[in-house]
Amino acid sequence: MSSATTAHAQTDAALAYVESHRQQFLDGLLDLLRIPSISTLPKHKKDIKRAAKYIAGEIERIGLKKVKVIKTAGHPLVYGEWLEAAGKPTVLIYGHYDVQPVDPIDLWKSDPFEPEIRDENIYARGAVDDKGQMYALIKALEALMRAGDALPVNVKLLIEGEEEAGGESIEAYVKAHPKRLAADVALVADTGMPAPGVPALVYGLRGILYTEIHAQGARHDLHSGEYGGVGPNPIHALALVLAGLKGPDGRITIPELYERIQPVTDEERALWDRNPVDVAALLKQEMGIDVLPGEQEYDPRERQTARPTLEVHGIRGGFVDEGAKTVIPAEAKAKVSLRLPPGLRPADVLPLLERRVAALCPPGVTMTVRNIHGGDAVLVPLDNVFMRAAEKALEQEWSRPPVFERSGGSIPVGALFDSELHIPIIFMGTGLPDDNIHAPNEKYHLPNFYHLIRQAIRFLEIIGGDPAIVARPGSAATGRANGRKRVAPSSAPQMTVGKADVTEETGTEVARP
Ligand code: BES
Ligand code: MN
Ligand code: MN
Repeated sequence: MSSATTAHAQTDAALAYVESHRQQFLDGLLDLLRIPSISTLPKHKKDIKRAAKYIAGEIERIGLKKVKVIKTAGHPLVYGEWLEAAGKPTVLIYGHYDVQPVDPIDLWKSDPFEPEIRDENIYARGAVDDKGQMYALIKALEALMRAGDALPVNVKLLIEGEEEAGGESIEAYVKAHPKRLAADVALVADTGMPAPGVPALVYGLRGILYTEIHAQGARHDLHSGEYGGVGPNPIHALALVLAGLKGPDGRITIPELYERIQPVTDEERALWDRNPVDVAALLKQEMGIDVLPGEQEYDPRERQTARPTLEVHGIRGGFVDEGAKTVIPAEAKAKVSLRLPPGLRPADVLPLLERRVAALCPPGVTMTVRNIHGGDAVLVPLDNVFMRAAEKALEQEWSRPPVFERSGGSIPVGALFDSELHIPIIFMGTGLPDDNIHAPNEKYHLPNFYHLIRQAIRFLEIIGGDPAIVARPGSAATGRANGRKRVAPSSAPQMTVGKADVTEETGTEVARP
């Protein structure tokens, strides 16, 4: 596939292959969705393994080489590669095959692991997050492989089974094997778009610090008559602390927190304004409320994607059965997380949170903050050839240019690809705001599954066929992962498609002749 014409021919053939294999692709996805690969619940360990093997089998069948299910301290990783496109860039494709728990199960209209198609949507746990999207990228590779017996680029595929549970194993793996994973760009489909028909490239994600606050009162439970008035109540103490951590104005009261945030630039705000969707109205409609709580002085888009958050996920303690029991419980717990925009790192925020909790804690109660998991934020520079290639691919696919947005969720491995592999990450997901991710009745809009397959094909073809994009030394084989000069993430975003940069020291991008 050296000339542009053959590359186009391969794309056309690949797109035709997608058309003629719509049903097969769907059936393959439905089989994957039937596997209850819930990573956080130990009883699903076997299902997790089964899902990993299923994916390994698929990519082996497609023709990827060195396919392996890699054992880790947690759940297995799946790896496969195809490195026969000499001189072409290498794309590291990432996704996750694990899913969130399904509770509350009563609210599902159909079994979360018996996918059902209603109104062009596939309903199942993991339909969009991330099995459907991850599988779409694999199907893009299949279509290209069947269409041309080769891929237009080199590919390394790394799929994890622990993303929804903190992703510790992939973190260790990426840190231990930067050379094995060396690439020019990463491709991830695990994000969304603002509305149907409005494609998106996500260039920023928040990090996360997930904790449990434990409140200990007396040595044992107390009679509330005998001890009320002199005994410590850890539930009430916890309530005071939780209420004190964030005010009614939505402002988190942890000192120093806001000072460390990397501010949103005017260029970014200008980009956001290109999004035709009324995000505030959509949010209200989606949540079924008529006011958006939070920091009123900030635009909802900024609150949703670029401001820190502090949320309580659950509180446990005391007596909650039928009837009444007059007890002062000895302990109480709450799960609390913060979303962290770029500039805030979980390891730095944890001591700040601990200090604030200690300051808010009333006498007689001891509180400890336990770190459950954390991940860094990521901000991908916009001025690089891969971002422009992605922009072009999405424009071809949707007949309108994509919007560039940050997303409020977290994909910790994105930050690792940035910090350990020094490559830009293209997040080109096709989830919709009403896809109910992590909630009952998760769905994936079936047309978006096929859009994603096709936009990924176009992206790979564009970067494989653009003479301005060549492999940097060492990216395809086992060479060193050479650093890329860091570009201030939000500085001067250039959105023109097809204008190559000259950054010779990295070898990633070379000027057009
Ligand atoms: N795919 C999501 C992240 C996401 C959600 C990105 C919405 C963009 C829009 C991912 O699977 C996820 O849920 N991540 C967790 C990470 C955590 C468990 C470390 C999250 O954001 O809560
Ligand atoms: Mn996901
Ligand atoms: Mn998720």
